[in-house]
Amino acid sequence: MLRTTLAAGAMLLTASAAMAQQSVVDHTQKLMRDNGRNIMALSAIVKGDKPYDQATVDAALKQFDETAKELPNQFPDGVKGLKAPDSKYSASPKIWTERTKFDAEIADFAKAVNDAKAKAKDLDTLKASFQPIGKQCGSCHENFRLKDG
Ligand code: HEC
Repeated sequence: MLRTTLAAGAMLLTASAAMAQQSVVDHTQKLMRDNGRNIMALSAIVKGDKPYDQATVDAALKQFDETAKELPNQFPDGVKGLKAPDSKYSASPKIWTERTKFDAEIADFAKAVNDAKAKAKDLDTLKASFQPIGKQCGSCHENFRLKDG
């Protein structure tokens, strides 16, 4: 009886740890999808499809900044190999073998975002700071994101 209870308890613990890890992966996906939405919003302004709007710019940069602050905690050992259920992408195993380089990608992204926060006040200054941000999205994806299938 005691043994059964302990075994059941251990199974529950394992199950809840797995669920917690999956929720970390799902949260990373949410951060990245918000990134995607916000980079499109900025891109529309830079291309002239939408008028310059400081509130849109500030909201996008704030979300990038929050993402940069959360990313260092989004890839603990337990999430290695896990995937968000409806994604075409996954985290490269290199995140765990080349951690210093991955952390540098996050720091470079944070720097580009902070530069933009200080500078982007009109269309010209947004154009100048948009490109370095996009470059950092691309650089991290190239090195640390896998396209599945
Ligand atoms: C430091 C690394 C890093 C940076 C910087 C980064 N990403 Fe990502 N991105 C990833 C990784 C890793 C994944 C795959 C995560 C997963 O599937 O668990 C990803 C996934 C994505 C996805 C796919 C989400 C999905 O599942 O549908 C989008 C969209 C995305 N990123 C957009 C962006 C944009 C836009 C930026 C810049 C504003 C950005 N990312 C910056 C590492 C990064």
